[in-house]
Amino acid sequence: MYVVVNAATSADGKLSSRRREQIAISGDEDFARVDRLRAEADAVAVGVGTVLADDPSLVRHDEAHRADHRGPEAAPPTRVVVDSRCRTPADAAILDGVPDTYVLTSEAAPDDRREALAAAGATLLAAGDDRVDLPAALGALAEEGVDRLMVEGGGELIFSLFEAGLVDELSIYVGGLVVGGREAPTLTDGDGFLEAFPELTLDDVRRLDDGVVLEWEVVGR
Ligand SMILES: NC(=O)c1ccc[n+]([C@@H]2O[C@H](COP(=O)([O-])OP(=O)(O)OC[C@H]3O[C@@H](n4cnc5c(N)ncnc54)[C@H](OP(=O)(O)O)[C@@H]3O)[C@@H](O)[C@H]2O)c1
Repeated sequence: MYVVVNAATSADGKLSSRRREQIAISGDEDFARVDRLRAEADAVAVGVGTVLADDPSLVRHDEAHRADHRGPEAAPPTRVVVDSRCRTPADAAILDGVPDTYVLTSEAAPDDRREALAAAGATLLAAGDDRVDLPAALGALAEEGVDRLMVEGGGELIFSLFEAGLVDELSIYVGGLVVGGREAPTLTDGDGFLEAFPELTLDDVRRLDDGVVLEWEVVGR
């Protein structure tokens, strides 16, 4: 599976404010770029922290671009939540619509929560004891036909994907604002690396709206 991570950060690397509420970082040109990236993916994923903070639907994508890539009958990209304990609310926007959303979960998910999400139309894939085992979960997704996965955050999930050596490409929109705050989420949170830092090669850089898009390839993953 090919994994593309995409996110928008402030000039100081924050994904949102210290209240963990979504903030406007990018503009229309970047939204259009993200819609094209979604259209190229088999599935689009976020962590449950993002679902709880922002309630994204992730349905919007560039339909014309998808038709060009996949043909006019192509189904929309599948949506995915990484959620060890099935904390995704049953009325979350990410569970609305077709195709069904995958919830990657773990053995720690209580039965009543699993049942609630299955009743809301989610397809559950369990991998890992306490936390989602990302290599195994992405392997299970690949068996469902997901060859290209776009991950849209947040910082905890992105860090874990880097830690597991699962990221192929990183694209970041860096917007013209400063957010600050030591508790504000950054692009990669988690425990952080002390050594063996993942290395990136810059593929492209371009100006968009009032910011810049950086596209990096992950070296030696
Ligand atoms: N600017 C942007 O582009 C952008 C994009 C997305 C999000 N955001 C912002 O980012 C913030 C949310 O980010 P976040 O870091 O709190 O949440 P997140 O990365 O979306 O989700 C993290 C959660 O995923 C679950 N998870 C399950 N298995 C995991 C694993 N192996 N590794 C990591 N996480 C795993 C964990 O909860 P369980 O253990 O309970 O499952 C964990 O707390 C919000 O403020 C949102 O607005 C910004």
